[in-house]
Amino acid sequence: MEYWKELLLLGLLCTLGECHPECDQGFKSESRTCIDVNECEEGLCGENTKCFNTNGSFYCQCLPGFKNNNGDFNFTLGGHCQDFNECTGVDNICGHAANCSNRIGSYMCTCHFGYTNANWSTGNCQDIDECKEADDKKEDLCGVKGTCTNSNGSYWCMCSKGYTNYGNERTTCSELDCDSFNGNGRPAPSLEGLADILFMMRNSCLALSDPSTAGEGNTDGNVLLQKLFTGAEAILAPGLDSSEDVSRLLGVVENAIMLIGPQLKDGRTKSVTNETDAEIAVQRGTTPPIGPIHLTNENATLDTDWTTAAGMGSYPGFALAALLSYKNLEISVNRSFNKLTGHEKDGVNPSFQISSRVVSVVVSNPSTQNLSRHVNITLRHLQDKEESAKLSYICAYWNESGAWSTDGCYQLCSNATHTVCTCKHLSSFAVLMALYDIEHTFGLQVVTKIGLAITLVCLILCILTFKFCHSIQGTRTTIHLHLCICLFMADLIFLAGISQTKPVGGCRFVAAMLHYFFLGVFTWMLLEGVQLYRMVVLVFNASIRPLYLFLTGYGTPLLIVVISAIIRPKGYGTDQYCWLSQDGLIWSFYGPVCFIIIFNVFFFIVTVWKLAQKFTSLNPDLSKLHKIRAFTVTAIAQMCILGLMWVFGAFLFQKGTTVEAYIFTILNSLQGALVFLMHCLLSKQVRDEYAHFLSCVCTPQKKRYSDFSTTNPSSSQSQASRSGQHTGESQI
Ligand SMILES: *[C@@H]1O[C@H](CO)[C@@H](O)[C@H](O)[C@H]1NC(C)=O
Ligand SMILES: *[C@@H]1O[C@H](CO)[C@@H](O)[C@H](O)[C@H]1NC(C)=O
Ligand SMILES: *[C@@H]1O[C@H](CO)[C@@H](O)[C@H](O)[C@H]1NC(C)=O
Ligand SMILES: *[C@@H]1O[C@H](CO)[C@@H](O)[C@H](O)[C@H]1NC(C)=O
Ligand SMILES: *[C@@H]1O[C@H](CO)[C@@H](O)[C@H](O)[C@H]1NC(C)=O
Ligand SMILES: *[C@@H]1O[C@H](CO)[C@@H](O)[C@H](O)[C@H]1NC(C)=O
Ligand SMILES: *[C@@H]1O[C@H](CO)[C@@H](O)[C@H](O)[C@H]1NC(C)=O
Ligand SMILES: *[C@@H]1O[C@H](CO)[C@@H](O)[C@H](O)[C@H]1NC(C)=O
Ligand SMILES: *[C@@H]1O[C@H](CO)[C@@H](O)[C@H](O)[C@H]1NC(C)=O
Ligand SMILES: *[C@@H]1O[C@H](CO)[C@@H](O)[C@H](O)[C@H]1NC(C)=O
Ligand SMILES: *[C@@H]1O[C@H](CO)[C@@H](O)[C@H](O)[C@H]1NC(C)=O
Ligand SMILES: *[C@@H]1O[C@H](CO)[C@@H](O)[C@H](O)[C@H]1NC(C)=O
Repeated sequence: MEYWKELLLLGLLCTLGECHPECDQGFKSESRTCIDVNECEEGLCGENTKCFNTNGSFYCQCLPGFKNNNGDFNFTLGGHCQDFNECTGVDNICGHAANCSNRIGSYMCTCHFGYTNANWSTGNCQDIDECKEADDKKEDLCGVKGTCTNSNGSYWCMCSKGYTNYGNERTTCSELDCDSFNGNGRPAPSLEGLADILFMMRNSCLALSDPSTAGEGNTDGNVLLQKLFTGAEAILAPGLDSSEDVSRLLGVVENAIMLIGPQLKDGRTKSVTNETDAEIAVQRGTTPPIGPIHLTNENATLDTDWTTAAGMGSYPGFALAALLSYKNLEISVNRSFNKLTGHEKDGVNPSFQISSRVVSVVVSNPSTQNLSRHVNITLRHLQDKEESAKLSYICAYWNESGAWSTDGCYQLCSNATHTVCTCKHLSSFAVLMALYDIEHTFGLQVVTKIGLAITLVCLILCILTFKFCHSIQGTRTTIHLHLCICLFMADLIFLAGISQTKPVGGCRFVAAMLHYFFLGVFTWMLLEGVQLYRMVVLVFNASIRPLYLFLTGYGTPLLIVVISAIIRPKGYGTDQYCWLSQDGLIWSFYGPVCFIIIFNVFFFIVTVWKLAQKFTSLNPDLSKLHKIRAFTVTAIAQMCILGLMWVFGAFLFQKGTTVEAYIFTILNSLQGALVFLMHCLLSKQVRDEYAHFLSCVCTPQKKRYSDFSTTNPSSSQSQASRSGQHTGESQI
């Protein structure tokens, strides 16, 4: 049954044309013939292989870069192709001047630095002739004084005498000046150790710059640095006596670091001894380095950038920056503060003392006197103290001449523990503490306030007296009155406005008003001199018309102020006080003042001389002469005080020391009191009038009324006598 079924199926297939003959393995029947089967289409070989079909069979081969795990080259089944590492072969497949790195199915060759390969199919990496290449590109690898020599994979520079590349073969030759290690011709007997350092550095310098010894004389930079600091330690440990020694040591160490830095092998080198703490950063390369530099030790930090450190000049193939902190130098430099100026506060000169470690900043930039960008130096204080009215921190550098200076350095910010300094040039720095004797300032302020208050009170009394006291009316009293008004206004404005420097416009106005009223004081004093002269010399016609008085007394100062304000409006008011600036405009005050004083001196001499003549004349009118003598003495005293006051005033506004401020203030206070004493208290008429006034005030109301009615005739009497005096006075 089964058999028949099969036969039937075969017969059916044959009739359909699908019946084929028996074919061998690897063949299939098609159109009654056996044809080859393409086994490669069935993917029998696996990954990373190439399949080859053959008549009746097939075989597999691994792709290049792959290997069969059985080790067969041709295989059919059971083979497995895997990547193999070409680089691990016995011979470096890439040649001696290249690195080989395996890839899946292949490998890659990278030429060593200094080698190149234009065409891998022709061979291995070839040495680059850097010297020739640089020549072709018109570059100068070794500098004008260096000879470039090619070597396998590299090149090196040979420097001529006097030039060096600091032992770095591939660095430009730069000039080396060993003269800075000559000790400037004069050996310092007090610093024997320094002579040793100089000797060592000079030898090292000469060896470096001599091509015949370069190589063997090339001491290790780190060893040299160690020697330098050991030598410096020996000098620093006992302390330095003179400022010159400090300058010399700082200078030598800075120069030495400039020489040693480029010879150091590492990018960062730290060296700590008992006396110093140094950190040196070096960068080499064919192009100038860029980026920030941050060097720090326990008590100091330097922030700058490589552009500043390398400088704008020709690039020597390296750049260096060093921060060197001296641990015990403070004691030796806790002096030499005499060059520090401009730190007065309210007229008080501070006393200084050192307040941080001394640090030196060294960079390879040869022109450190005017850096393109400020460097920031943060210094730790020796003692934790906040800035206050009594204390401020200032950033200073040690000037080569052996004293602290501040120009080009200023304080960026301070807290109790640190001060940040920013400087436009480099050398050795420290933070100084400026201590202000605050009691002094306070005392001065009190004296100024009290003194001016006394003056103002006295002047008010004088003004009231001169205005309302009938018994003394006359030209002289008018002059006194206006002199007092000017002085009062000047002092009032001085008290209220001299230090109100903001806003600027207000300060200018205050300065102009002060200028006007102080000049007014002097012109009225001139009028007083003129009037005295007329009273004594031209006995008759002694009164001056008030119009002329006012025109001169108020007009002249106005004219001067207006002209000055037109010519130099910016000269009114400075940022410290509201007074005339000291650059020329001040002469629009001192000029007229000198002129007036000279004239008054002349008038007074003539007056005194005439007066003396009159006293010795046959029948002198003694009471009248005594009176004039009193006037003259008063006038002279007043002029002396005013003149003297402004002599000290000149110093005060110029430099502002405490003593001058005290004298100025005291004389100014005396001024008002003197006028009051001389013109009011010492004058009998005025005293009488005061007494009368006081008796009126003190008598009870009722009684005063009756008093008034009963004493009416006597008052008219006294008026008569007053008018008599009046006329009498105006006659003299
Ligand atoms: C392949 O082999 C068969 C017999 O083995 C032969 O008859 C045939 O001619 C061969 N074909 C070719 C293309 O060589
Ligand atoms: C691999 O097979 C091809 C074709 O049969 C042959 O020519 C070649 O020699 C074989 N290679 C090896 C290593 O057996
Ligand atoms: C060559 O290989 C060494 C060691 O792995 C490596 O230090 C060097 O940078 C490589 N050189 C290049 C050009 O890749
Ligand atoms: C590499 O060298 C070969 C043989 O000299 C040459 O046929 C080929 O063109 C070269 N290739 C290049 C990119 O120069
Ligand atoms: C560079 O190396 C090759 C082979 O390693 C040597 O034959 C050749 O003399 C070397 N050239 C120089 C300049 O050292
Ligand atoms: C450094 O100071 C330590 C402790 O004071 C001392 O023992 C040491 O001898 C000093 N070193 C030198 C080189 O003076
Ligand atoms: C830093 O200052 C502190 C306190 O003034 C001191 O103890 C320390 O030794 C200093 N360190 C250096 C490196 O100068
Ligand atoms: C120094 O500090 C100032 C203010 O903090 C900053 O603007 C400046 O960039 C700093 N300079 C450097 C070189 O870091
Ligand atoms: C510096 O001198 C002052 C007195 O002139 C003294 O009070 C201070 O302690 C000294 N500072 C140092 C660090 O020696
Ligand atoms: C410092 O350099 C700046 C420009 O970088 C220049 O304007 C200035 O005048 C220089 N100052 C001095 C003192 O050379
Ligand atoms: C030293 O100070 C003087 C003025 O105080 C100044 O003219 C001079 O340039 C300073 N020297 C240095 C090297 O800064
Ligand atoms: C003080 O200032 C320094 C530097 O700017 C900073 O590192 C420190 O934290 C400050 N100290 C305090 C207490 O603010």
